[in-house]
Amino acid sequence: MNEQLITHLPRWLEASRAHAHEGKVAAYIPELAKAPGNALGISIMGKTGETVAAGDTSLMFTMQSISKIFTLMLALVDNGEDGVFAKVGMEPTGDDFNSMLKLELVEPGKPFNPLINAGAIAVTSLIHGSSPAEKSGRVLRYFQDIAGGAPLAINEEVYRSESATAHRNRSLAYFLKDNEVLGEEIDVEDVLSVYFQHCSIEINVEQLSRMALVLAFNGTDPITGREHIPRRYVQIAKTFMLMCGMYNASGEFAIRAGIPAKSGVSGGILAMVPGIYGIGVVGPALGAKGNSTAGVHLLETLSGQLEWSMM
Ligand code: DON
Repeated sequence: MNEQLITHLPRWLEASRAHAHEGKVAAYIPELAKAPGNALGISIMGKTGETVAAGDTSLMFTMQSISKIFTLMLALVDNGEDGVFAKVGMEPTGDDFNSMLKLELVEPGKPFNPLINAGAIAVTSLIHGSSPAEKSGRVLRYFQDIAGGAPLAINEEVYRSESATAHRNRSLAYFLKDNEVLGEEIDVEDVLSVYFQHCSIEINVEQLSRMALVLAFNGTDPITGREHIPRRYVQIAKTFMLMCGMYNASGEFAIRAGIPAKSGVSGGILAMVPGIYGIGVVGPALGAKGNSTAGVHLLETLSGQLEWSMM
């Protein structure tokens, strides 16, 4: 493990924590509003599992949009590239993550990419399984294996809270149904329940850094040597992370930090230094575009100090 990281991480983290007050904890899913706004935690894992961590590392949080990266890869395993990209595009939008705007304006119904909500709901509809419970079970086991094997669980309160208030996501999903992106055989509420459940999988920063490590090593866990995801699908996921993993702040993050990352409205961020580290961050206070203010500040600091940018 890098000596500079071991020595300075606690200090860099505390300096970034000061940026939490610039953000607000998400409240559109009522249960998420209970998260501590001033929290900030990070775990950075190297290829033998050596880990350096700092801050609020025991905080549990739901994966929210971070889960979209892994459901995309599972949908690719189930359907191949042609099957997935028949339903969802490959381009960043520049719009908010829950925007409906381009759905109607361009190629009616086909979401621009798998990381905006409309695209992620379309991707979730492609996951194989004979019932919503079987699909959610497959997703949970897939995530668990990639996170190192320890049991993961769905936070039922967050799941129910989102399901009860998801008027925007319901509208998006019914619009997709109307435009036949969700096919005739697909029940909209079934797809939404699987989508809300994978967004509600609960995790901590150490488990998140292990998931990131598998992506940093192109789908193979460097600690066990086990291949979890085909390299090509990890390549697709990482490309989306770089282009639109931080939503309409992805360009700014790419310029400032230059590493693939994916954020969620719980304040989690999965990031990686390809071939070197997997990183998990949590900082529940979010900026205007839905990313953790303190978490983004910390990743940008680390990238600057340690020259992580891929560009
Ligand atoms: O669908 C939603 O609104 C949430 N379950 C996930 C959104 C999210 O995490 C966007 N992130 N920044």
